[in-house]
Amino acid sequence: MKIIIVKDQQQGGKKALEVFQAALNQGAEVFGLATGSTPETTYTEIVKSDLDFSQKISLNLDEYVGLKADNPQSYRAYMQQHLFNFKQFKRSYLPQGDAADSQAEIQRYNDLLAQYQVDLQLLGIGKNGHIGFNEPGSSFTEQTRKVKLTPSTVAANARFFASKEDVPQYAYSMGIGSIMRAKSILLEAFGVTKADAVAAMVEGPVTPDCPASILQQHPDVTVILDQAAASKLSR
Ligand code: PGA
Repeated sequence: MKIIIVKDQQQGGKKALEVFQAALNQGAEVFGLATGSTPETTYTEIVKSDLDFSQKISLNLDEYVGLKADNPQSYRAYMQQHLFNFKQFKRSYLPQGDAADSQAEIQRYNDLLAQYQVDLQLLGIGKNGHIGFNEPGSSFTEQTRKVKLTPSTVAANARFFASKEDVPQYAYSMGIGSIMRAKSILLEAFGVTKADAVAAMVEGPVTPDCPASILQQHPDVTVILDQAAASKLSR
């Protein structure tokens, strides 16, 4: 893992932009994208930049089950608001939260991932070490599937919803097997609440207890941290 420590999330976004730029220069065609507060500054920098994705493909990590694409809390809406309204890709895929047939939707997404190998996958990390919605205990080999969110993830997401009852309990998520197929991975983490998860990911044993720890076995991972998120690393 290549670890880059920056002052704050703003600087992290600028570093991440450099990683996207380098990927484009190397001919990347397929970008794996993420939602949440972590990548916001990255998308801000991309929007301000002259990077051109108009002939590129994007595939997002996950989507809440049950939300329509136009629900403001859907990840589709997040992507529109933070990136796609300003930078268009040739095609942008997310799992469809309100798909009538879950199994067919999962198959559709896995077929897309088989068709488009991700060149650069952007990731955040949960306080519990999750990547995508692959919570502790997830298998390292699974593909896209429907997952039940843990109470801690539901609680962390609750800030975006009017009431706790509105927070979806399930999501479609690329599995860790899908994520590990990406040719390169860029994981960002900011803030002291991520420090334990970051330490477990980088310095702990590779174990499903910390899903992100599997990234130690990926050949091309860049990690961008602010000083707070890096504060529990011993090296
Ligand atoms: P956050 O979520 O960016 O909103 O902190 C990251 C994650 O849970 O993967």
